[in-house]
Amino acid sequence: MNILERYRTEIASSLAAVVPGEGILRQLIGYPLGLVGADGGPGPGIGGKLLRPSLVCFACEALGEEPEGALPLATAIELVHTFSLVHDDIVDGDRVRRGRPTAWVVLGEHQAIHAGDGLLALAFRTAAQADIPAEGVARAVASLATATVAMVGGQARDLELEGMCAGTDLYLEMARGKTGALLGCALELGAIAARRPDLALAHRATGEALGVAFQLRDDWLGLWGDPREFGKAVGADLVRGKRSFPIAWALERDPSFSTLLNEGTPDEARARLAELGADEATAAKAERLLTVAEERAGALPWPGWARAAFRDLCRGLAARVR
Ligand code: IPE
Ligand code: IPE
Ligand code: MG
Ligand code: MG
Repeated sequence: MNILERYRTEIASSLAAVVPGEGILRQLIGYPLGLVGADGGPGPGIGGKLLRPSLVCFACEALGEEPEGALPLATAIELVHTFSLVHDDIVDGDRVRRGRPTAWVVLGEHQAIHAGDGLLALAFRTAAQADIPAEGVARAVASLATATVAMVGGQARDLELEGMCAGTDLYLEMARGKTGALLGCALELGAIAARRPDLALAHRATGEALGVAFQLRDDWLGLWGDPREFGKAVGADLVRGKRSFPIAWALERDPSFSTLLNEGTPDEARARLAELGADEATAAKAERLLTVAEERAGALPWPGWARAAFRDLCRGLAARVR
């Protein structure tokens, strides 16, 4: 069972059902999801990997419940994620995502802010309407809100660290918020949908470790990936002065690297990063975090098929190219 394929069709249909049928909001909400094109006509289709919603459905099924029951919560978390990407691309000044022009490039910055606002509100409406017992809905909405606040905090910290001499400790704290929080929430929502709130915390911890590893791979791809496959700009972090993991790691090893970062070209900085071993160090740290995620998953009452599927997902994410 491939976690990223198994629930994809249902999640995509559920997302499509949330997009307003007409008017400016159809364009604002539909464009970043891939359902509406830049000209207002049909888009190429859902473009993301749907990792977070797939994890919601997966955890629910791994705990013995029908994954369909988790679909509203899965849809909600993908809407929060999409909101975060729309605003993230404005803040990072990035022009390409999922191989398409970013929302702010097509819609304009002001309307892209509205797109993000709308996606966030739709997320919480979708979660609030989940067809699970009221107690579960309240827990799910609280969990999603807590994770969203942590994600926004991580995003703010990410911006604050730009240009600073930040090491890996500061980086990891930032990434736990920016990316770990929503991945943790995804598995937690699956446990809530499966009516196992007693397992929520253990699921969250598993997803958090997976999330930080996922961000490390993203940072790696942001320096050494193939932009056509990655669907995003490569090298942009260097230009902006981002403290991605390889850069934080290199600054810790060699503080004089900051001069090259400030004054050299992106190619020179990349060459120095490789010379210091930052590419291997990033991959090795991601591996260790994935092992932590697998160990935490080992303590969950999942059947054999779920353990195997989660292991495959972790292996796949360590080597992902997009
Ligand atoms: C991108 O997340 C943002 C990060 C946390 C690195 P994904 O890589 O899950 O984005 P999509 O949804 O598949 O495009
Ligand atoms: C990803 O931010 C995390 C969120 C959007 C919350 P990044 O800026 O690190 O990721 P990409 O590379 O733009 O997707
Ligand atoms: Mg970004
Ligand atoms: Mg960012």
